[in-house]
Amino acid sequence: MTDTKFWHPFAAMGSVRSSELVIDHGEDVWVWDEQGNRYLDGTAALWYAMVGHGRREIAEAIAAQAAKLESYSTFGDFSNRPAITLCERLVDLAPGDDWRVFLTSGGGDSVDTALKLARRFFAARGEADRLHVISRSAGYHGTHGWGTAASGIPANREGFGPPVAETTQVPRDSLEALEAAFQEIGPERVAAVISEPVIGAGGLYPPLPGYLQGVQELCHRYGALFIVDAVICGFGRLGSWYGFERLGLDPDMVTFAKGVTSGYLPLGGVLISEAVAEPFFASDGPIFRHGATYAGHPTCAAAALANLEILGREHLLDRARELEGPLFAAMSSLTEHPLVSEARGGLGFLAAIDLREEARTERPTVVAEVFHAARERGLIVRPLATGLAVSPPLTASTAHIDLIVETLATSLDAVAEAAQLSLDPS
Ligand SMILES: Cc1ncc(COP(=O)(O)O)c(C=O)c1O
Repeated sequence: MTDTKFWHPFAAMGSVRSSELVIDHGEDVWVWDEQGNRYLDGTAALWYAMVGHGRREIAEAIAAQAAKLESYSTFGDFSNRPAITLCERLVDLAPGDDWRVFLTSGGGDSVDTALKLARRFFAARGEADRLHVISRSAGYHGTHGWGTAASGIPANREGFGPPVAETTQVPRDSLEALEAAFQEIGPERVAAVISEPVIGAGGLYPPLPGYLQGVQELCHRYGALFIVDAVICGFGRLGSWYGFERLGLDPDMVTFAKGVTSGYLPLGGVLISEAVAEPFFASDGPIFRHGATYAGHPTCAAAALANLEILGREHLLDRARELEGPLFAAMSSLTEHPLVSEARGGLGFLAAIDLREEARTERPTVVAEVFHAARERGLIVRPLATGLAVSPPLTASTAHIDLIVETLATSLDAVAEAAQLSLDPS
């Protein structure tokens, strides 16, 4: 029996230590393990493989850049052409051109950058009391310090002691609760509200109509910054470049990662509105004393540029919009199964089903069992607290959607039967 030295993230290492699923290679929507078993990647790895796996074009762009200049620091005035070009391209893809781009190593890094910058911005404006960050229940913002503090998933905050003190979570769909939080904290003490367009890892919850516009209005009314966390929703997942444009939003900052490179190399960043950037770009402006060693890494930037080229050339954002309805309809058909209580989705190429509460109470492992049953049948889905999510590569077809739903249906049957769950289908 193997005993791995590799400590996996978010893993029960007591069992994983001797039972890793070793993924060996990938091609488009498929991945294979070391034993040669093929899996339909129903989750685009961890929500990010937008253009699918095994794209030689991106591998070649990476190899060419690494051979020319693998990396060089961008602290101070050091720069490199791929990073400059990428930031220009990222602004071209955003609505309006009043943005600056701060590059990072990933999503959590981007969230921490945005939340620190919110405070630093207000300090630079002489409003040093604006420290507080409000986030939503079920929201996920990574596992760095500030993102952990802003997490709307209590389990992700447990056992780490006190987080950044000035953070508050509000019930995810209630504008009244947000308004009440502003009042309780004191509106002049709130630096920012952060929200995903569609909540992803925390349960896959599309926003209620008008909710995010309401959040933006409250931020404007009370002078706080509105930060959209587009780490999952960006680069096509919602059928637009950053997700927020689709909802008609006008945020002050936008965090992104994942789909910007489709995962070929790690890279993230923050779009920063000119109003927030301006004090730091003034001739005697303050320095934002923040940034990672690999910010603006030229080889990662080359991967992003090649990936963005493919997303545009193959019209994959349009494809996500075309397929979001069929995906949601197919997942909704699973609500006929006695184990399934509801389906969520319809906005973007991602959807989820919830398993019935009675089933989860009677058998707390039921979500994991369905996840494993699907994997044994050649399908990777994402387990959530109460159900399972899918977010395939944007290259998936309706045939792949059918396969996902058929496999989920047989997996649900197998688990219901094996567990002999007493389910009332009413
Ligand atoms: C909305 C959101 N923000 C931030 C993060 C953190 O990104 P990373 O895991 O790259 O640090 C994630 C990761 O899933 C995410 O979904």
